[in-house]
Amino acid sequence: MRDYLEVAVEAARLGGDVLKQYYRQNKTIEYKGEINIVTEADKRSEELIVNLLSSRFPQHSILAEEGTDMVRASGYKWVIDPLDGTTNFAHDYPLFCVSVALERAGEIVVGVVYHPIFEELFVAEKNNGAYLNGRKIGVSKIDSLRKALLSTGFPYDVVQDPVDALQHFERFVHRAQAVRRDGSAALDLCYVAMGRFDGFWELRLKPWDTAAGALLVTEAGGQVTDFASDSHSIYQDQTLATNGLIHAEMRNVLGNSR
Ligand code: IPD
Ligand code: CA
Ligand code: CA
Repeated sequence: MRDYLEVAVEAARLGGDVLKQYYRQNKTIEYKGEINIVTEADKRSEELIVNLLSSRFPQHSILAEEGTDMVRASGYKWVIDPLDGTTNFAHDYPLFCVSVALERAGEIVVGVVYHPIFEELFVAEKNNGAYLNGRKIGVSKIDSLRKALLSTGFPYDVVQDPVDALQHFERFVHRAQAVRRDGSAALDLCYVAMGRFDGFWELRLKPWDTAAGALLVTEAGGQVTDFASDSHSIYQDQTLATNGLIHAEMRNVLGNSR
């Protein structure tokens, strides 16, 4: 697994260097939807990461946000967000990252998230803990929602389907100490892993948003599930990630919103 982790770090840094080069420069922006954009940096980052991974592991599948979907029969799949936080990036708001994860037989075994502006590198390996810039990290010890700093995000279709997202948001604003909306789900999850946030929830995330960050949270001692059960899959559309201590309280709020 060490080899995979090392290459994942190399790939995340490669993408991160691209984002740094384009950051605060004029960049070409295309619209994938009314508010969903992609920049030339997303595409260039994906291209370099995919080239690296497919040259090192030609037998592995690769799924990445900006169009890569290579299916191979090895049982290994790389799941990549070449730029998580594109809206922030396009506005020169410095919260964005690269997310690289490796799935083996349906289970995430390596997760790396790199924030190139703060130079924060989050890494996790299944059963081997979570680290920020080489130091072991753990979730917070806050044990009540009233004392908790939470984070969330909104899916791009929130305008068409605002019901749950806005109800959840309103309820947590009333119940938590405070709620943030930072604009990068992968970083939100890493911030739960290191204890900056105590909990995070979001609807309709994609596999590349959560693959690496969810492993970071569980390896840091936290809990990641959907809103109602004790399981979580990067392919379903509810994500609840906490330090474990406020999980039940958050789940209650999510369960009661309709
Ligand atoms: C988005 C970010 C954002 C979340 C959205 C995601 P992108 O990813 O993670 O925080 O709220 O749901 O789609 O488009 O910037 O890679
Ligand atoms: Ca994303
Ligand atoms: Ca993205």
